[in-house]
This record gives sequence, structure tokens and C-alpha cells, in this order.
Amino acid sequence: MSTSGTDRLTRTTVFAPRLDALLRDHRGGDVFRLDADTMGVAGHDLTDRILAARPATERERPTFKPLHGRSIPRTEASTVMQAIGRDVRAALKKPAPRGVDLSGEWPHVGHVYLRDLILGADPYRLRILMDRTLELTPKLTWTVIATGAALPGRLRPGAPVTSIAGLTANAKNYSDRRYAMGMYRRAAAPVCFTVSTLVANAYWLGAPFDDGTPNEPILYESMRLLPPSWNILRNASPEYPALDARIGAGDDVLLLPLLSHRAPALWDDPEEFRPERWATLDPDDLPGYLPFGHASERCWGRHMVMPLAGMLLDAMRAADLTVDPAQTSAKVPLAGLLGVDKVRLVRESGAGHR
Ligand code: HEM
Repeated sequence: MSTSGTDRLTRTTVFAPRLDALLRDHRGGDVFRLDADTMGVAGHDLTDRILAARPATERERPTFKPLHGRSIPRTEASTVMQAIGRDVRAALKKPAPRGVDLSGEWPHVGHVYLRDLILGADPYRLRILMDRTLELTPKLTWTVIATGAALPGRLRPGAPVTSIAGLTANAKNYSDRRYAMGMYRRAAAPVCFTVSTLVANAYWLGAPFDDGTPNEPILYESMRLLPPSWNILRNASPEYPALDARIGAGDDVLLLPLLSHRAPALWDDPEEFRPERWATLDPDDLPGYLPFGHASERCWGRHMVMPLAGMLLDAMRAADLTVDPAQTSAKVPLAGLLGVDKVRLVRESGAGHR
């Protein structure tokens, strides 16, 4: 059972100062200078034209940018995505997580749950690459990968592990193994990080949800107000000054869904969490709304993200989880993945008795 959403009205989202300044100074803006060689873009029309102007270069691609100096060819990228896709589908076929306690501090609880659900069969040496603390310290990530790659007892081809771990089994030497482990992290980590962040954001913004509201509009509305992928970078390129004279030849362009998702010209009550607005909107064809990027090359992971997030929401809503009423504020740090930090989820009936 869910009560009405009055609790959520008392919650304050505290953005990191630089995010707060962006929202304060440029919400509803079009093009503006962010620093000596970066222009911010929030206008939906220009965003669309910039992203359509040319494909992302390999250095601009978040997942498959070069690894250890090696370019990742498309064929390899799609093999990796198919492997993690198989692992996610296998996880979704497992019995619904009804008996599992998903209360506690999010997104951490969700991250650990997904890691164990999807990658639980994998050796510790690989699963450790999923540790949330690594995300904050890229240097540490590479130390752990280098150490793990040097360990004896690597996977034999055909070992009973996930498909994505199976790809590391074919590595022949230290350098290949280190590369394969880096790839494991590149493909497997975003599943756990992004989905747990998305669900934490949804709970913070909207819980308790009305029983009649399906998961998808809840997720679309969460990604509007707190887009996990809040900026999209394109490096300086001759196409851009040609589209808008305010962009200089040497300027990188930072496209900002964080801002276009709240533009007063595009949305009724832009600051309000209103999942019901999605009853009449098409999330794949809506100017200025691009949580998964541009139509010309949408996120390859979105078909895993939505069902996984939906599975978690089903289980959490069935267990009557909500945000601890004692928690009235949550921080959104300045990070590549935008989300609320440390949201405490409790059972509705048990709220306040912890
Ligand atoms: C809430 C979850 C996610 C969001 C909001 C998201 C968002 C995005 C966005 C905005 C882009 C376009 C980037 C650009 O044009 O520069 C993108 C591309 C991409 N995403 Fe996602 N993503 C999510 C999860 C995932 C996951 C879990 C995976 C992989 C397992 C993934 C793999 C990719 C790939 C392969 C691309 C194409 C560009 C590249 O090679 O990196 N995404 N995503």
C-alpha cells in the first residue's frame, strides 16, 4: 500500500555548488561560456543540431573510449555488450527478489544487490572491480586491475561464470588479461552503478509512489529531474561554429540535459515530480529530453537499464519501502554520474522506528 506523496514535498535536494550555479544561472538558457575553451549548451534546438552534426569520436564515447591506449573496434564493443546483455537477461529470469531486504542506504544497497545478482558467479578477483569506492578513485581502480591480472589461477575457457567474465578467459598474457579486466569493469560496472543510482533518485524524488503509477513514467520523470548522464561532451569541431557563431573554433561543447530537462519553455511545472505527465509524452521523441543521448546514437545499455530498474522498483514497492521521514535532505555530488547520495530507505510501516 502507498500513501499520497506529501512526504516527498518536505525533501530538499542539495546540489554541489557548481551544479547549483549551473541551475541557477543557466536554466532556460541557450548557449553560454563555461570556461576559456568550453561552451555550455542547454537550448534544445542547438543540442539537437550539435549531436546530429557528427558521430561521437572514440574519445568522447563514455563506455568504449580507448582502453590502455588501445582503440576498441565496434565489433569488439558489440561482443562485450552482447555478453553483458546475456548476463542481465539471465539475472532478470531469476525469481523476483521478494524475500530480499532492500532497505538501507541507497544507492549502495542497490549496487551490491545487482552486483551479486548479475555477477555473483564470478571470482572475487573480477567482482572486486565493482566496488563502489573504486569509482571515486580511478588510480586505485587501475592498481586493483593490475594486481588482479598478475594473480595466478585465472579463468579457464568454459568455466561456469557470467558471459562477460568468460571474455577474460581467452586472454593469453598479462597485458591481454589486464585489458580484459578493464573491459569487464567498463561494461559490468555501469550496470550496477547506473541502475542503483537511477532507482535511488526515483525514490528520493517520488516515494511513496501511488499504487496506480507504473514504473516507466516514474523512471522517465526521475531521469528528467536528476539525469544520471547530466552532461554530454563534444570536443571542438568545425561543424559547431558553423551551427552557432557564439561557439569558437577551439571551443569544446558541453551539452546539458540537466538544464534542458528543466527548461520552463519545454515543461509545465518543470521543478515538480509529476510522473503522470508521461501519459501523453513520448520519451524517445521529445525536444530537449535526452537522458539516453541523441536519437542518432542512443545509449546501448538502455534496454538493460529500464527492466533492471523496473525489477527493483517492483520489489521495493511490494515491500512498501519509502524514504525515511527523518531524512529531509540529500546531497547530489559533482560527479560523472548524477545522483543523490546516501538515501535511507525504510519500510513504510516501520518508518521512524529504526
Ligand atoms: C541510467 C543508466 C544510463 C544512462 C542514463 C546512460 C546514458 C547514456 C548517454 C547519454 C549516452 C550518449 C553519450 C554520448 O552521446 O556521448 C550513452 C551511450 C552509451 N551507453 Fe549508456 N547510459 C546508461 C547505462 C548504460 C549501461 C548500463 C551501459 C553498458 C552496460 C551503457 C552503455 C553505453 C554505450 C556503449 C554507449 C555508446 C557510446 C559508448 O561507446 O560509450 N549505458 N549512455
